Amino acid sequence: MRPRPSIRVQMKPISPKFVTFEGIDGCGKSTLIDELASWLDRTRVPYVKTREPGGTSLGEKIRGLLLDPAHRGMNRQTEVLLYTASRAQLVAEIILPALKSGAWVLADRYIDATLAYQGYGRELDPDPLRRLQHWATQALVPDKTVLLDCGIDTAAARMSARNHRPDRIEMEERAFHERVKAGYLDLASLDPGRFIVLDAEKPLPEVIADFRAAFREIVPAP
Ligand SMILES: Nc1ncnc2c1ncn2[C@@H]1O[C@H](COP(=O)(O)OP(=O)(O)OP(=O)(O)O)[C@@H](O)[C@H]1O
Ligand SMILES: [Mg+2]
Repeated sequence: MRPRPSIRVQMKPISPKFVTFEGIDGCGKSTLIDELASWLDRTRVPYVKTREPGGTSLGEKIRGLLLDPAHRGMNRQTEVLLYTASRAQLVAEIILPALKSGAWVLADRYIDATLAYQGYGRELDPDPLRRLQHWATQALVPDKTVLLDCGIDTAAARMSARNHRPDRIEMEERAFHERVKAGYLDLASLDPGRFIVLDAEKPLPEVIADFRAAFREIVPAP
């Protein structure tokens, strides 16, 4: 009798994933984060959601300073440092411990937001910005970044439908937002392995379908 082959069960280790969501205000980031969160719930994968600026007690205070329309005269470098201080605290206090514990992290904005808004939007030299981010985040780079590419008018219409009062950044002129949108696409083209660019102009069910197709190989099966 031939010996029966031993059955080897291949357990693929599931590594936690750090996924960031980027795009101009009103493009649909929160909507897709909720979509991924309920997907992870169904597959019983633990996760933590974060938002920037903020996400920690210290960071939420910095968020208040950054978004307050009373601070319209804020210096560009001050703005970079405040966003980055909030992010440094978030990485140290929430993101790194979560990843270490085996949870996924779903982040509403991260380093790319500073590169897009302050680098492209405020037209600051990107090299020191990148070096500062590397240092402040302890060199933590996302595994995947979802960029929701959406027109300025579409995003503005979605926000006004929500009765949202514009914050200091949202009150910026149109050309600023155009630079940010183009900047995000530029960043995505520089790092195609990390970025997943979705056409967020499409109706929501189609955006969700595109998102699910892109993440099918990344999210573990239930
Ligand atoms: N593809 C879509 N088509 C139509 N409406 C959408 C689409 N995506 C999101 N929305 C709606 O647009 C509004 C803004 O979406 P959401 O809050 O997810 O954007 P956001 O990027 O998180 O905005 P913010 O930057 O202000 O937090 C919501 O009311 C949402 O339901
Ligand atoms: Mg949101």
